[in-house]
Amino acid sequence: MSTQPAAKRDERFMARALELARCGLGRTRPNPAVGCVIVHGEQIVAEGFHARAGSDHAEVAALRNLSVPGSECELYVNLEPCSHFNRTPPCTNAVLASGIRRVVIGTIDTNPRVSGRGVTVLREAGIEVVCGVLEQQSRQLNAPFFKHIATGLPFVSVKYAMSLDGKIGTRSGDSAWISGEASRDHVQTLRNTYDAIMVGTTTLKKDDPRLNCRLEAGRDPMRVVLDARLESSPTSRVFDTANASTKILIFAAEGLDAERVAARRGEGVEVALVATDKRGWLDERAVLEALGQRDVLSVLVEGGGALVGSLLERRLVDRVYAFIAPRLIGGADAPSPIAGLGAATMADVIDLEQRQIALLGDDVLIWGDVPNALRDLTPRKPGSP
Ligand SMILES: NC(=O)c1ccc[n+]([C@@H]2O[C@H](COP(=O)([O-])OP(=O)(O)OC[C@H]3O[C@@H](n4cnc5c(N)ncnc54)[C@H](OP(=O)(O)O)[C@@H]3O)[C@@H](O)[C@H]2O)c1
Repeated sequence: MSTQPAAKRDERFMARALELARCGLGRTRPNPAVGCVIVHGEQIVAEGFHARAGSDHAEVAALRNLSVPGSECELYVNLEPCSHFNRTPPCTNAVLASGIRRVVIGTIDTNPRVSGRGVTVLREAGIEVVCGVLEQQSRQLNAPFFKHIATGLPFVSVKYAMSLDGKIGTRSGDSAWISGEASRDHVQTLRNTYDAIMVGTTTLKKDDPRLNCRLEAGRDPMRVVLDARLESSPTSRVFDTANASTKILIFAAEGLDAERVAARRGEGVEVALVATDKRGWLDERAVLEALGQRDVLSVLVEGGGALVGSLLERRLVDRVYAFIAPRLIGGADAPSPIAGLGAATMADVIDLEQRQIALLGDDVLIWGDVPNALRDLTPRKPGSP
């Protein structure tokens, strides 16, 4: 018999399911990241996770590894099992067929095709179902999936490195490197889990970033450049199509010369045209909608200040990662990470929520979520309309 209170025991196994789910982050779009463990007594006897869209769902992957009778086991999964046919058959069928006696779920799937139905199907078959174990962590892990389901937009994170006095470069534009090696390594792990990386055209021209993921077992995100007038150089490193394993997408202004657009398309990059504002800048919401339509669930914006400022002003940013290096650059003309007008009074400033802090070498990383009504979705209770 377990000496742990039942709730703590459930949390322990759910924590492992969440750990497994993380292995799929950035690889499952348009699906969520899901992990599953099957428990016999106090032992985990089978594990699985959803590796990519079209492959086995986590429950099916774990059940495949099960070698003891399902009727003696409990199943832990961070997202409600699906009950509909899509690329793969319903997971509830596999759970029922296995004879599993108890199912513990992190959070309900807000996809309208599931949304409590998975729980209902299992309960109607006589299985004990517990919902909401490590619910906040389960919601956080799949925040991009939930936002995309609710709004059609990807989850947008902004990342920048700045000096202790809030500068992202010197007055002459020198910016390599502000943060230390541990911070730059951490950026690689972020790139590994985001579906796309986006930059403004000035950052592209000045920094010539590759925007790939250089981790050994990493994978490259889609690369997205906002270049309204299509003036970026085709020889920029980001357009190195010969070494690109994923799509390279340029957003440019509607009404550009068709031959110019066709020429860029001929270079192996995709060019999408969206509306512009009075300044000739691209409509950021239209950009994000177009990415959402391409099943991009998450975007990491890596500058520069003009693009980040513009996105924040329109409340299109969900999360901020600020890498702060203990160095002083100084100077009124040195750029800061967020341009645009900014807040007029302290009543208008943005207070990040769910804040976290980590030490990375000599740097400090602070990250947190921007209060955003679009993302603030309360999962529906099973069985409710
Ligand atoms: N330390 C860091 O973490 C970090 C990271 C990245 C960049 N940086 C530095 O930041 C500097 C570049 O930043 P920046 O603010 O000058 O430029 P930026 O944000 O990279 O690019 C801004 C330009 O992008 C185009 N654009 C098109 N649509 C836009 C939209 N909706 N919103 C904003 N821009 C749009 C506009 O150019 P057109 O009018 O020509 O279309 C605009 O001038 C560089 O010096 C770079 O080194 C530092």
